[in-house]
Amino acid sequence: MPSRSQVPRPALARMLLYLRQFERLSRDGVETVASAELGDAIGCPAAQVRKDLSRFGQLGQRGLGYGVRSLIRTLRSLLALDREWRAALVGAGNIGRALSTYRTFRERGFQIVALFDSDPRKEGCTWARLKVLPMGQLKRTVADLGIELGIIAVPAEAAQGVADQLVAAGVRGILNFAPTRVVAPPNVPVRSVDLAADFEHLAFLVANRAQPPRR
Ligand code: NAI
Repeated sequence: MPSRSQVPRPALARMLLYLRQFERLSRDGVETVASAELGDAIGCPAAQVRKDLSRFGQLGQRGLGYGVRSLIRTLRSLLALDREWRAALVGAGNIGRALSTYRTFRERGFQIVALFDSDPRKEGCTWARLKVLPMGQLKRTVADLGIELGIIAVPAEAAQGVADQLVAAGVRGILNFAPTRVVAPPNVPVRSVDLAADFEHLAFLVANRAQPPRR
């Protein structure tokens, strides 16, 4: 099996899609799947699927396809998804509430185990069985609960400060929902989620589509 550092970024995104698809097939009782079928499901050519999955040696067999259950195990291990990840969420507002009550994170191994907010009026409020804690307790809580990931759900102008506090508290990675770039040391990867940018992207694609002929 390749090491995690040998998986190129674009392949990583596809691996996550393959895993989703394998899990869906497994739930439906499917035991093997062909590269063409897998490619159709995730929108990429069969040859690319074969190339990506050939990293795992002879797991696909000509005429038989890929064994769904064994590839789920292999992919989960390669993608470090065969374990629980604990996260702290900072910003107990609209987005924070939606994220902390979203059950699928937990089902996929991501547990939000602490909520923080700088607004003293929010301190002590309980969401998803978690009390909102003051920022002063961030460092100790990260250490006590073995938290490795931080989620930023504060206004853009507060995001960098919160990122710095998360890094100082010892988190190993940050998921940023604020619409601004946040920087962290090279050993702390940051992923940003920006639905507004996705809307803008979509609007551009729609606006630039050739109009269908009018009848
Ligand atoms: P909100 O105003 O409802 O909640 C923000 C919370 O952050 C408040 O409870 C506030 O007290 C807290 N806060 C502010 N400064 C803080 C600090 N320095 N330390 C700790 N807590 C602090 O805002 P909402 O609607 O939940 O949005 C949160 C962020 O998410 C915003 O940056 C917004 O632009 C962004 N957003 C991102 C989306 C995305 O697609 N990624 C979609 C919608 C919003």
